[in-house]
Amino acid sequence: MSWNKTVLNTLLSCVLVSSTSFASATTTLKISHNQDRNHPVHKSMKYMAEKVKEYTDGEVVIRIYPDGQLGTQRESMELLQNGALDMAKSNASEMESFEPSYGAFNIPYIFHDRDHFYRAMQSDVGEKILASSYDKGFIGLTYYDGGSRSFYAQKAINSPADLKGMKIRVQPSPTAVEMVKLMGGSPTPLAYGELYTALQQGVVDGAENNPTALTNNRHGEVAKFYSQDEHTMVPDVLLISSKVWDKLPKNQQEALRKAAKESMIYHKDLWAKMTNEALKKAQNSMGVKIVQVEKQPFIDAVKPMHDKALKNPEIAEYVIGFDALAEK
Ligand code: GCU
Repeated sequence: MSWNKTVLNTLLSCVLVSSTSFASATTTLKISHNQDRNHPVHKSMKYMAEKVKEYTDGEVVIRIYPDGQLGTQRESMELLQNGALDMAKSNASEMESFEPSYGAFNIPYIFHDRDHFYRAMQSDVGEKILASSYDKGFIGLTYYDGGSRSFYAQKAINSPADLKGMKIRVQPSPTAVEMVKLMGGSPTPLAYGELYTALQQGVVDGAENNPTALTNNRHGEVAKFYSQDEHTMVPDVLLISSKVWDKLPKNQQEALRKAAKESMIYHKDLWAKMTNEALKKAQNSMGVKIVQVEKQPFIDAVKPMHDKALKNPEIAEYVIGFDALAEK
């Protein structure tokens, strides 16, 4: 081989090696979610992304796509299942139709307070639920506090009787549908992105969510009464496609898990601060009336759901596990 040819071969293989190692040096993971950039979950995912970059020395870069740019929560879940999308933030309600075990989180009044809710999310039961969906095409990495959900509408809902004849938007979750039915309203499942217009045009008469819906999603412009019956505490969930997960080396999987768990803790204080601010803003700048309600009639109306869940083989184990974590 002539000198020139040898040099050329060496140069070529250098180029090849460096481009291969360069290509494998960075893995970019895309996350889809349906909130805006100012929402606490977006901020907590940004925190997670920074940690992942740090723990992998820049090998894994996470790019977050907010505002449903990559599709609704449902569409994102479907993309995760076939590996066309790497990660998504969804909500335990929406996920119930993909993986029934998430239904345990959706039972009204199952958590006695925020501490109980956190114990559940951080328990072995919570972990088991996150892992349970591997065969469905995705797994959960962590939960994000989604606060407690209450009804909002153009009138106060002081008791279940006030829901009579009202079309209430719910997430596409069988448990949420049943809850509103038992309370006396007409449940209307809709994608979150369609809700503002649906409220504005009277397609639905009300909805239910945490206070950030009033401000970040501007629902307080079209629903002036937020009645705090606090019927559910349904977490958001950070998910990764099983196909994508399987391709990641062990050290990157560990970095992702660690960063995700840390972002859940980061989110805890941020959530408390930002939901308080949302309530104040809704009240003071948007003219939303925050209504205190007597919760017992709401609790009584949905009591059969908890009893039924204990007999449902798909979720009984998780419900018993959550109940055992309540303070006696
Ligand atoms: C919460 C949650 C969203 C969800 C929404 C809904 O805001 O964070 O993930 O889409 O509720 O009611 O659909």
